[in-house]
Amino acid sequence: MSELAHGTLAGLAEIADTGRDARRGGYSRHLWQGPDLELRAWFTERAERLGLGVETDRNGNLWAWWGEPGPDAVVTGSHLDSVPGGGAYDGPLGVVSALEAVARLRASGFTPSRPLAVLVFAEEEGSRFGIACLGSRLLTGGIDAGRARALVDADGVTLAEAAHRAGLDPAHLGVDREALARIGLFIELHVEQGRGLIDLGRPVAVASSILAHGRWRLTVTGQGNHAGATLMGDRRDPLLAAARAVVAVQDEALNHPGARATVGRLEVVPGGTNVIASSVHAWLDARAPTDAATRDLVTAIEAAVGEAVTVNGCSVAVTEESWTGTVTFDAVLVGRFRAVLGGGALVPALPTGAGHDAGVLAASVPSAMLFVRNPTGVSHSPEEFAEVDDCVAGIDALASLLRSLL
Ligand code: GLV
Ligand code: MN
Ligand code: MN
Repeated sequence: MSELAHGTLAGLAEIADTGRDARRGGYSRHLWQGPDLELRAWFTERAERLGLGVETDRNGNLWAWWGEPGPDAVVTGSHLDSVPGGGAYDGPLGVVSALEAVARLRASGFTPSRPLAVLVFAEEEGSRFGIACLGSRLLTGGIDAGRARALVDADGVTLAEAAHRAGLDPAHLGVDREALARIGLFIELHVEQGRGLIDLGRPVAVASSILAHGRWRLTVTGQGNHAGATLMGDRRDPLLAAARAVVAVQDEALNHPGARATVGRLEVVPGGTNVIASSVHAWLDARAPTDAATRDLVTAIEAAVGEAVTVNGCSVAVTEESWTGTVTFDAVLVGRFRAVLGGGALVPALPTGAGHDAGVLAASVPSAMLFVRNPTGVSHSPEEFAEVDDCVAGIDALASLLRSLL
């Protein structure tokens, strides 16, 4: 990222070494753990240097205010956490671009007529506590606070304990009507996570919609036993059953137009080389073009997986962990933003299969997104990328929108 070391994207260069994951490649930046804490300190320092006043809300989201906080504020931002082994742009590009757009407005002597904040959401990827967009869900009441407090990370630490260690009062986690009421409009700039802008040959788009999506835990239960002493015909091996289940997930997704279904995480219990597992947890991520299509897909997966595991004498229990309905961004706002940015021929409207805090917020406040071209078309991976010129085009677009709104 050496070409970013100066100029408008210096922010990305400043955090380029934070949270690098030597084992997985890419970055692992998880809520309130070392790298995430460093990024929060970096953001605070950066925003304060710009003359913004930084505060943390009751759910751990960071707000950097230009002027007095709300009401009717224009708010822009994204997140700084990552998936395990993620790329450099998913989240940070939106935060760095927001700070840069504000820096430009300030440097030009612009005086806003309404408050503006740069917002950094906590735990957008759900990599530590399992629920994506946790900060925005808590803020908007999209998750029950009691349920959220009881979420546990891989080390058995509850969200309540982690929040306490991070200096928050766990009793105050949950819907924050006061903070929400300050938002007049939210804009999230994000690296594109598919190939839409590559195919169209454009650097920047406005988001039109987000696929319905959710996460389900599949717990496959068999019989733990000895790897050497148990004849092949005497086994009830849940890992073999889980392997069949993973194939069944793919087959069902292929049967449902526009659907995507993924098992990207397995936990084998107890997990010994010479031990036939007793159970396997597999996490399903399923997405489809409508709420009904996504529900149909998951119903079909449950049936197929239930049947698949019986071949190995196992059973499966399916638990829903999170759900986000289809998001259609406000068409008037999308049209207005495209017009401000030069018209539809220059700035397309694109749907996405990736989830975002802007999608969660859209149920409560007017929300919109800008996408910046990703020439690899790859995301949630170290291969995720954006050219400097396209990032600059994204910042230009965001600054123009902010100027038109303020
Ligand atoms: C977040 O990036 C998601 O789509 O899961
Ligand atoms: Mn992501
Ligand atoms: Mn993201």
